[in-house]
Amino acid sequence: MSSPQLNNPEELKNDLEKSGDFSFLDQTLRPNKFDEYIGQETIKQNLKILLQAAKERSHPPEHVLFYGPPGLGKTTLAHLIANEMGCQVKSTSGPAIEKVGDLASILTNLSPGDVLFIDEIHRLNKMIEEVLYPAMESGVLDIIIGKGPSARTIQLDLPPFTMIAATTRVALISSPLRSRFSGGTFRLEFYTEDEIEKIVKRSANILGITLSDDAAREIARCSRATPRTANYLLKRARDFAQVHKGDLSSKYVADALALLEIDELGLTALDRKILEVIIEKFKGGPVGLSTIAAALSEEMATLEEVNEPYLLQLGLIERTPRGRLATPRAYEHLGFDAPEEAQRKLL
Ligand code: ADE
Repeated sequence: MSSPQLNNPEELKNDLEKSGDFSFLDQTLRPNKFDEYIGQETIKQNLKILLQAAKERSHPPEHVLFYGPPGLGKTTLAHLIANEMGCQVKSTSGPAIEKVGDLASILTNLSPGDVLFIDEIHRLNKMIEEVLYPAMESGVLDIIIGKGPSARTIQLDLPPFTMIAATTRVALISSPLRSRFSGGTFRLEFYTEDEIEKIVKRSANILGITLSDDAAREIARCSRATPRTANYLLKRARDFAQVHKGDLSSKYVADALALLEIDELGLTALDRKILEVIIEKFKGGPVGLSTIAAALSEEMATLEEVNEPYLLQLGLIERTPRGRLATPRAYEHLGFDAPEEAQRKLL
């Protein structure tokens, strides 16, 4: 479908109702230029130099790896790089590339200068990873034809391309693969409240939402320092305002947060359950992540990639060699009496 006119909320609503397709909203909020991208200043500075130098040499930039918790802008940066270079992005993900042939087909269909974006690169099969090495390093694809003693290898030259990969689990990336990202490996950081507030105001402007400063600040405070969450909260609070036919004030933000069970620190019900389990079932820890996951019937990967980084960032848990430990701040936040220091286990 063609993108609806976004400045007029009425038109937007009508178009959405007709199409039922909401996926473009995230695309619409995504900044297209470095100047529009708020936060991650060091990464932006590095990328600007990388891209300018590549442009001056009339060559695609070298391969880049982004890592960090979900929703911080890894995919957005990949698209920004492509925009800046005036080239196309071909997107795929580690688990989507099932066979060596899938990767061969993706690589041979690239146009010169294209960005190949591979999300969740940590889930790429090891056999496929081996094919990627010469492609990234020397721009060639080694294809084995035939089987047994008569098998032979032919080498195909690939168009020059830039690979941009993203992962939430950098530790799972083998060091040979990591070392091929010669353009740099960048860790995305959580955003400050001021940065998120600016992002929320920018998004509101694009979506044609009028919101008070208080509402923007409240969303920023409860957004887990993450733009994706902030935009999500903005849209949910906008729903409340729309249903009640009012402007988006902090009252509607509070209503939306209450319904979503998000508290004043931005913790979700699952975040709080994790803390409760550590405190109540395991006397404050240390307890292994797999044990916490089993106690909650949750995937360990979800806890590790989604919940834990923010709980660590807020200082609600600590990671020790013997497992996760609830901090006094976690006890206080959940309304438990903090244990005496002497009672806390020696680490
Ligand atoms: N929307 C999502 N992430 C953003 C960012 N970092 N800057 C501006 N708008 C955004």
